[in-house]
Amino acid sequence: MAKFSQVGITLFLLLVLAIALPLGVSGATPTTTTNLVGDIEEDGSVPSSVDFGDAEASYIEMPSDHDDDEPSELGVPVKSVVTKAFFNSILSKASPSCAGKKFYRRKDFLNATRSYPKFGHLVNATAAKREIAAFFAHVTRETGHLCYIEEIYKGKYCDLGRAKEWPCAAGKKYYGRGPLQLTWNYNYGLFGSEKKLKTLKNPEMVAKNRVLSWQASLWFWMKNVRPVLKKGFGATIKAINGGECNGGNPRAVAARVQYYKDYCKRFRIKPGCNLSC
Ligand SMILES: *[C@@H]1O[C@H](CO)[C@@H](O)[C@H](O)[C@H]1NC(C)=O
Ligand SMILES: *[C@@H]1O[C@H](CO)[C@@H](O)[C@H](O)[C@H]1NC(C)=O
Repeated sequence: MAKFSQVGITLFLLLVLAIALPLGVSGATPTTTTNLVGDIEEDGSVPSSVDFGDAEASYIEMPSDHDDDEPSELGVPVKSVVTKAFFNSILSKASPSCAGKKFYRRKDFLNATRSYPKFGHLVNATAAKREIAAFFAHVTRETGHLCYIEEIYKGKYCDLGRAKEWPCAAGKKYYGRGPLQLTWNYNYGLFGSEKKLKTLKNPEMVAKNRVLSWQASLWFWMKNVRPVLKKGFGATIKAINGGECNGGNPRAVAARVQYYKDYCKRFRIKPGCNLSC
């Protein structure tokens, strides 16, 4: 979370949003996360971008729990948890005019998990389901129930401090894209280098290729969020959009926690401790 740009939103954008955002969605708070989509708060401000950023903080201690690193028989098949009914229950809350409605598909999510086979596989079924519930809680918040593919605020998100390593291409912007709103040049660069794709030159691909879009989110998740899962859901909020924590945006935090609790309930597990941040 190196930087947060608070951007005032124009009246025009507000009007567009008022139309575009189903009330149900904004009731809990509009999209956000990594700000891919850009959060619009009720006071009209746009929350800072997601922090797809600096994961350093969250990296500090990764318990050397070997079990967590192996796809385990103790986990659960992701597709048996993320059922069609579950996926569609999120999507159905997005209004028909949402771009995401024609873009996000369960089968592409499942396809993408094959590139991250450890996702949803932890020491036991409860831990595995908590991971899946947490992932979709953040996806729900970041995209407004899978409504948005791209962040509303089309910022450049070029971190000059890291532009030597991850050069921002002329005319390209690294605002949030995809289910967890991948943001910042360095995240596009790191993800692209793993996938051997020119995501810095062509960040648009993250919002165009369905499977890649989920892969980018799972990549971010495995790298930056999973290491803190054991600390409770609150730590995952910090890893995704830490600016919301410690009073930064209590409404957003409450929305994320509510989605998480709701999804845990559907998966018939307890949500665990330390839910907020
Ligand atoms: C998974 O995604 C890849 C890349 O888009 C695609 O080539 C492949 O056909 C997909 N597999 C399935 C089973 O959908
Ligand atoms: C599952 O794993 C969690 C976290 O490692 C642990 O706290 C919990 O007791 C385990 N549950 C069972 C039923 O083994």
